[in-house]
Amino acid sequence: MSKKLFIETLGCGMNVRDSEHIIAELNRKEPYTLTQTIEDADLIIINTCSVREKPVAKLFSEIGIFNKRKKEGAKIGVTGCTASHLGEEIIKRAPSVDFVLGARNVSKITQVVDQKHAVEIAIDYDESSYEFGEYRTNPYRAMVNISIGCDKQCTFCIVPATRGEEISIPSYLIFQEISKAVASGAKEVMLLGQNVNNYGRQFGNNEEKINFTKLLQKISTIDGLERIRFTSPHPLHMDDTFLEEFAHNPKLCKQIHVPLQSGSTAILQAMKRGYTKESFLNRCEKIRRLSPEATISTDIIVGFPGESEQDFEDTMEVVERVGFEQIFSFKYSPRPQTQAQHFKNMISDEITTARLQRLQSRHLEMLVAQMDAQIGSFCQVYFDELKPNRRVAGRCDNGRLVFVEGSEALLGKVLTVKITHATRTALEGVVWE
Ligand code: 5AD
Ligand code: SF4
Repeated sequence: MSKKLFIETLGCGMNVRDSEHIIAELNRKEPYTLTQTIEDADLIIINTCSVREKPVAKLFSEIGIFNKRKKEGAKIGVTGCTASHLGEEIIKRAPSVDFVLGARNVSKITQVVDQKHAVEIAIDYDESSYEFGEYRTNPYRAMVNISIGCDKQCTFCIVPATRGEEISIPSYLIFQEISKAVASGAKEVMLLGQNVNNYGRQFGNNEEKINFTKLLQKISTIDGLERIRFTSPHPLHMDDTFLEEFAHNPKLCKQIHVPLQSGSTAILQAMKRGYTKESFLNRCEKIRRLSPEATISTDIIVGFPGESEQDFEDTMEVVERVGFEQIFSFKYSPRPQTQAQHFKNMISDEITTARLQRLQSRHLEMLVAQMDAQIGSFCQVYFDELKPNRRVAGRCDNGRLVFVEGSEALLGKVLTVKITHATRTALEGVVWE
């Protein structure tokens, strides 16, 4: 009988992919089946995020709960970004944890799983040419890493300390992995990296001459691959050649994440983002001009140290001018191993909360208008998930989530849908073919 694995994945797409790698590697050693029930699991893994403080605090209470509920002899492992930055401290604070595996050490899962209190968290470990086993959460939509780590020094961000310096994965491996996924039914790929459009700056062992735009062109030649998405690009590396490719390559989905963080040039400088309010607006205007059908999403941090009323007004102005289709907004959270944790002029929680609310309620108004405007329109939906009550979910080329009534016969197909209803988060429609 195969062992049972319970795996909880927090954080970003990189973590989702890392969880897939962990499952694939474990299965190369011995068969595991996934379970959603802690009490049934032989192995419990919490794949953590450390980008903000709250989830880190939650981790220890969760370990306590899992430890009480788990069956005799079951193991608990903590992996991912919090594992990287707390390391051994996790075992000191919670001795029921059997092993700790950092975000850059996924391939070592089979080494640590049977070692009591093993800790593997080296952030200079090179996994860029490691050939992981195959496991996909969703066979229709493949996630593929194109780089690991991050070479930026944004002053608020813990990620360079948890995922290490940036290394690009050789393009032949990326090509091979996508081709395999396509052969087993995926029409769509999501390219993942902390900073995808910095691709090609540094490889582990090979010195290819290739940048992100060229990688996109190369991947586009894969027969049977219909849709390419990527996250996250950095506004600083969005050169004109890339934006032209984005606009004119029909396989590139017209959905782009352009993380703003702040609309104030002074705050952007304090964050070491490398661009100004004007250059950010210039890039977004160019995207709107070249790709009018594209949706633009962004990340915004509110209440960064020293953020004045005027700085926040600058952020609001950028929000108005770009008209982002989606905004992920956060209160600034001081993180260990970052420069900004030492900054003076912290903004009170009261002011930060009020600013966040103002930003979110303004965006909600914009969003409702944008979503309502979709009613009556047609879009091409790639169906990839069966939902309860005979509903099937998929995404338009521009990333909007669409539900229709139907069966598994729709899965893996790209079909024309007429939009009939809209909520803030999703559209409903009927298949038109
Ligand atoms: N505080 C708040 N938000 C943060 N992010 C990254 N670090 C912090 C922090 N210290 C946000 C950024 C990033 C997203 C993934 O999380 O907006 O783009
Ligand atoms: Fe992803 Fe960053 Fe969270 Fe790590 S800290 S899981 S890289 S969002």
